[in-house]
Amino acid sequence: MFAVYADSFSADDPLSGLVVGERPEPEAPDGWATVTVRAASLNHHDLWSLRGVGLKEESLPMILGCDAAGHDEDGNEVVVHAVVSDPSWAGDETLDPKRSLLSERHQGTFAERVVVPRRNVVPKPESLSFEEAACLPTAWLTAYRMLFTQGGLKAGDSVLVQGAGGGVATALIILARAGGLRVFATSRDEAKRARALEIGAHEALESGARLPSKVDAVMETVGRATWSHSIRSLRPGGTIVVSGTTSGPNVDDAELTRIFFLQLRVIGSTMGTRDELASLVTLLDATGTRPLIDRTLDMSKAPEGFAAMAEGDVFGKVVFSRDA
Ligand SMILES: NC(=O)c1ccc[n+]([C@@H]2O[C@H](COP(=O)([O-])OP(=O)(O)OC[C@H]3O[C@@H](n4cnc5c(N)ncnc54)[C@H](OP(=O)(O)O)[C@@H]3O)[C@@H](O)[C@H]2O)c1
Repeated sequence: MFAVYADSFSADDPLSGLVVGERPEPEAPDGWATVTVRAASLNHHDLWSLRGVGLKEESLPMILGCDAAGHDEDGNEVVVHAVVSDPSWAGDETLDPKRSLLSERHQGTFAERVVVPRRNVVPKPESLSFEEAACLPTAWLTAYRMLFTQGGLKAGDSVLVQGAGGGVATALIILARAGGLRVFATSRDEAKRARALEIGAHEALESGARLPSKVDAVMETVGRATWSHSIRSLRPGGTIVVSGTTSGPNVDDAELTRIFFLQLRVIGSTMGTRDELASLVTLLDATGTRPLIDRTLDMSKAPEGFAAMAEGDVFGKVVFSRDA
């Protein structure tokens, strides 16, 4: 079948190991479902995979992609939950030490078909297009858990979103606004700051700029480049939720003194549970809130999307369609 996969790793030239070609048909073990992919979306995770982060050499070739929406064997429209937990695991799948994301141990979604445990399919409402639904399982689910589960934010609270252009960051801005929060965003790029305002930020500031007031929580996916500013932007007792380190994990100053003196809470967050994905789908269906799609490409043109993400030239999600 048609597939977009990683054949080798390169830290400096990740696209050199990306192949658009053919891979064997997947076989669904007992209790697994075969989903015919209609749309899939790109995440930074796919670039990390091509750099050899989180993916083992012996797993190659590996079909990339965590996110998909499509049809199950009975023709139902479904969204795929990307977190595959051990069959013996019960409870929050993100806490299972044996969990993996699609495209780490099991073949990913950039293909005609993908197989997943049956509990990993969530019904897709008709109101969401396949392209919109394909944005949800990684970036949007991560944003949902960061804000409402790990961040514990509620209507009326204030939040700072760092690095406004990213897939997770745009999801954070849109979801935070839908949830009744006061939303600040930062970006290095003036055009991206303008777009951040259009999608729901109340104020958009240059990276590192002082906020007009301290916030209840900061959503951090950038890492080293923004960490210090994130800590300095919190009110006493505030919360920083961290789910990514795009600019690097090693910070120059961890700001430990501020963390203890202001009694800040530093909380990690990763992906989300199947139930959170179902809640996110319901939230979008009920409110009309929709993922921001930067561009939709035919899946055969996937390398164009990877290149745009590698260059930081995206605002919102890059979607690969099987229908375009
Ligand atoms: N833990 C999880 O479950 C999980 C799930 C999804 C993603 N992630 C992680 O979250 C991060 C974001 O993912 P994504 O898919 O949203 O990636 P992305 O679309 O590539 O977002 C990257 C954003 O980071 C900002 N950025 C990059 N380098 C920067 C720098 N030097 N200084 C300031 N800002 C910088 C940029 O903001 P501006 O250009 O606007 O300044 C850019 O918009 C990745 O590291 C990813 O691995 C984690």
